Amino acid sequence: MKAWRYTGVTGGMEKNLQLKTDIPRPYPSSLTKGQVLIETIAVGLNPADYKVPEMPILGNLIMPRTVSPCLDFCGRISATHASVTSFQEGQTVLGRLDKMSSPMITGVLSEFIVASEENVAALPESVDADGGSTLPTVGLGMYQAMVPWVKSGQKIFINGGSGGTGTIGIQLAKSLGLQVTTSCSAANIGLCKELGADEVLDYKASPVLEQLKAKGRVFDHVVDNIGSDAALYKNAHLYMKPGAQFVLVGSEMKALLALGIAGSLPSFLGGGSQPFKMMVISNNAENLRKFTEWVGEGKIKPVIDEVFSFDDAPKAFEKLKTGRTKGKIVIHVGKS
Ligand SMILES: NC(=O)c1ccc[n+]([C@@H]2O[C@H](COP(=O)([O-])OP(=O)(O)OC[C@H]3O[C@@H](n4cnc5c(N)ncnc54)[C@H](OP(=O)(O)O)[C@@H]3O)[C@@H](O)[C@H]2O)c1
Repeated sequence: MKAWRYTGVTGGMEKNLQLKTDIPRPYPSSLTKGQVLIETIAVGLNPADYKVPEMPILGNLIMPRTVSPCLDFCGRISATHASVTSFQEGQTVLGRLDKMSSPMITGVLSEFIVASEENVAALPESVDADGGSTLPTVGLGMYQAMVPWVKSGQKIFINGGSGGTGTIGIQLAKSLGLQVTTSCSAANIGLCKELGADEVLDYKASPVLEQLKAKGRVFDHVVDNIGSDAALYKNAHLYMKPGAQFVLVGSEMKALLALGIAGSLPSFLGGGSQPFKMMVISNNAENLRKFTEWVGEGKIKPVIDEVFSFDDAPKAFEKLKTGRTKGKIVIHVGKS
């Protein structure tokens, strides 16, 4: 089968990807308990697909170097193990591989993949395969960053509303009944409003922290998808209600250490005073099922910036790495 593989990341993932045509495909007989064999239709990209492998030292440990990249997929089930009862051959599903359970498994940028049934969900009829492939990581991520803490009627600030996480975050927050303030640059204000944001802060017009402080202590919850400035958390008590949770979803490498320190030290030692969580998304069958149910009800729609052909996978990574994506980038793999 065809698969994109990388054996190193020197100079960037996109420069190392090689299209292999002779990778042995998985067969139904190789499935073990709970596994399904899927013919890939589309792969959704996430910044972690290049950021984690490109991390010095740790990247080597977490991601072996002879694999395909990417975790999020949409595809058609071509076989199931005898133990699988919730999915049938021919069904279209979306899902996310769980690399944390086994770092040695390969990613999904290939014609066939094997997944565990708890990591897939039926593709809702309201979305096509390209759209479905964009949803698992950002859907699980935003679900886990909000649902445990928020109540309908509360005010949330989502830092970074126009990227993969933010476009889903805004829609999820609105469907949970929240009042949403988000940030983006001027060019994306319209998109964030169309997705339901009640208020949009232009982060290039003046510092977001100053714009938030001017509102007083009004926010019940914060989801930070950007993580470029530790001061946003350290000063969160100036715009968040006492005891309200600050969840860090994304972070730039240069700010990660400062954010980690601010989040773990008590305020009298220079840390912040709001409860802080650095989120690491985890695969969760119930969260994925609930999220796709809301997608099926039309509450949340995928937002796609661009769809690339399978042959153009390196170009898709180049675009993702600009950090300017509106919504998500998709690589279309097979027949839909
Ligand atoms: N913790 C987890 O488990 C988890 C899960 C998913 C994602 N993440 C991380 O979350 C981060 C965001 O992911 P993503 O998929 O949303 O990335 P993305 O799609 O690449 O984000 C691009 C968007 O970010 C906006 N942006 C850039 N700088 C900004 C700023 N200072 N303020 C507001 N918006 C800004 C850009 O808008 P402009 O062009 O207008 O600047 C663009 O629309 C990444 O670091 C990713 O690795 C973590």
